Amino acid sequence: MQTSVWPIDPDHPDASVIARAAAVVRRGGLVAFPTETVYGLGADATSPAAVEQIYVAKGRDRDDPLIVHIATIQELERVATGVSPLTRALAETFWPGPLTVIARRHAGLAEAVGGGRETVAVRMPSHPVALALIQAAGVPIAAPSANRFMHTSPTAAKHVLDDLDGAIDLVLDGGPVTVGIESTVVAVEGNEVRILRPGGVSAEELAAAVALLDADATVVEASGTQASASPGTLSRHYAPGIPLTLITGPGRLAVAAAEYVAAAPPSDGLALCAPDSASDAIRGVVAVERLGPEDAPAVHAQRLYAALRALEGCGANRILAVYFADGGLGRAVLDRLRRAAAEVIEVQG
Ligand code: TXA
Ligand code: MG
Repeated sequence: MQTSVWPIDPDHPDASVIARAAAVVRRGGLVAFPTETVYGLGADATSPAAVEQIYVAKGRDRDDPLIVHIATIQELERVATGVSPLTRALAETFWPGPLTVIARRHAGLAEAVGGGRETVAVRMPSHPVALALIQAAGVPIAAPSANRFMHTSPTAAKHVLDDLDGAIDLVLDGGPVTVGIESTVVAVEGNEVRILRPGGVSAEELAAAVALLDADATVVEASGTQASASPGTLSRHYAPGIPLTLITGPGRLAVAAAEYVAAAPPSDGLALCAPDSASDAIRGVVAVERLGPEDAPAVHAQRLYAALRALEGCGANRILAVYFADGGLGRAVLDRLRRAAAEVIEVQG
């Protein structure tokens, strides 16, 4: 298959380009498109054959369910049933934007989007290209991140092609994305809002919204076995093509990292990925990707995946990532680095 790449203005997408891309979706094809978080690999969520093609193209496990994307809040009822009032209120608060909610799956959707579950994950993205494509297609669009299964998520069209060229019909190239890390996935159970995957909406933002919406409700972070309620959150996800060692914790990370680099044999060919200050403090690596100022987690999120992809292709043999955060968007960045890591070194205070 020949994969086409069509440039598109991210803020004011050309209606005729969108109409042609929507036609590809309607006839069951695969179209990669930008969202504010990462590029998605889209197909008609109501077509079993189209959804099957997503799993084939990505090499994705069949029990790893997909997010269904809609263009208006009203469409939530078209893809889900029995949506709880708190779930709906959270959608109304954070949509369009990087929040995904879980609800009971509507019979109109292809069963395969649920990966064997009765539920469906739903999100209304804010990216103008994504919204225009869903609207023009006239169907909800199932879209996982547009990378090979388990690999680093794509934040630019080039990353999509690096993984999926020849396996999909089309890439809409709207330039680099803004958030850079996937949506936050939540499931409401009774009075509990469970974070199944940290992402573009921080736990603090969620807690603030939940406190206003329902005084009795609480936000909890699912971990370990609970998080396997969201199977895509398995460890060893998001992994770059070369092994990654993560140095993390509340301790003196730059010191620990400098010692680690000094002790590593030169044949390790270590490349570094860290916020600016740590990057400046650590010498003796073969390449560096700077994630931005220490106190700018939104910048870290935006740069993370492109940085990992740059380092896996730079000739280095291993990546050393140095990162810690105990709140905000940095939590999602740290979550992804932990899942990308083959080895984690904890440095206590
Ligand atoms: O930002 C995003 O969420 C991006 C863009 C393209 O929208 N999409 C994305 O999709 O990250 P994907 O497939 O790479 O990750 C979907 C996540 C996985 O962790 C999966 O387990 C979870 O959502 N998920 C999907 N359906 C679910 C369900 N029914 N129940 C629980 N978790 C679900
Ligand atoms: Mg993914």
